[in-house]
Amino acid sequence: MTSQITIRRPDDWHVHLRDGEMLEAVVGYTARQFARAIVMPNLTPPVITVAAAEAYRGRILDALPAGADFTPLMVCYLTDDADPAEIARGYEQGVFAACKLYPAHATTNSAHGVTDIRKLTGLLETMQRIGMPLLIHGEVTDRDIDIFDREAVFIERVLTPLVRDFPALKIVLEHITTAEAAEFVAGSGPQIGATITPQHLIINRNAIFDGGIRPHAYCLPVAKRERHRLAVRKAAVSGSPKFFLGTDSAPHGIGRKEAACGCAGIFNAPYAMESYAQVFDEEGVLDRLEGFASEHGPNFYGLPLNEGTVTLKREDVTVEDVVTHGDIRVVPFHAGETMRWRFVG
Ligand code: NCD
Ligand code: ZN
Repeated sequence: MTSQITIRRPDDWHVHLRDGEMLEAVVGYTARQFARAIVMPNLTPPVITVAAAEAYRGRILDALPAGADFTPLMVCYLTDDADPAEIARGYEQGVFAACKLYPAHATTNSAHGVTDIRKLTGLLETMQRIGMPLLIHGEVTDRDIDIFDREAVFIERVLTPLVRDFPALKIVLEHITTAEAAEFVAGSGPQIGATITPQHLIINRNAIFDGGIRPHAYCLPVAKRERHRLAVRKAAVSGSPKFFLGTDSAPHGIGRKEAACGCAGIFNAPYAMESYAQVFDEEGVLDRLEGFASEHGPNFYGLPLNEGTVTLKREDVTVEDVVTHGDIRVVPFHAGETMRWRFVG
């Protein structure tokens, strides 16, 4: 049995690092495991301008633990009034790595999101021309669509026409959760990729209702039926360059999760590589972890692969019940469980 693996340093292609005290509490977990991360722009107010992204990048770098070697890659939050010239300038200056499309009201801090993608035609033409990736939270927001169907309906109603109308636009369908998403991405051209989170590889929707309501297993897109988890898992471990690592680590303080209306988001950063290693190990394809974690993402974005390596050892690690930093308390994914792999760095 393999007792340890060493792979090229990985990156996280979708993370929420937050701001202020929460940023200080969580950034070290991501920086310990990953060389780079695509940092989601859904702050209040959202990151819309080049100046705001530069300032946020500065705050992230300031919050890093001493000696950390970590590069945040910034993202522009799209609104109905997104300015193609400003966004292209940010991309060309190396400030914005991508744009993020949140359908308005799809998830946490998405009130400023896009109400109708047709309003963005000029911007999408620009992005297609300059090769700037569009990252999509792929869920419709109509309240008459069942929450478990919102990703599949988004693919049918929004993504399929989008890919037809902008055939060269680079698109990442973020945090896929369904067989429909895995099939759509696998069946599209090389310009379409997808990120996959640890939780959507590990839990299905039963985890949210296991003996009572479990707010720490609730994120968006919400975990689906077992058959979908298996389809997403198959895609992740397939070795296809279209699927890559994106944790969607989304911390919320305990009080905001354990509430009458709890926030969506799972904080998986502390044991992210442990989670993924366990999945690839269970599937008998540990040799494919490196592609998923360290190669497919940079190749899709057209960025260089990281230098250096990290090692994971087959050792039991017990996950703490709560991660604490000053007044901040966040329950991590796998709280209280034993992981079978340990990230040594
Ligand atoms: C994210 C958050 O909390 O910012 N929550 C989540 O459940 N993933 C928002 C998002 O990415 O949907
Ligand atoms: Zn997210």
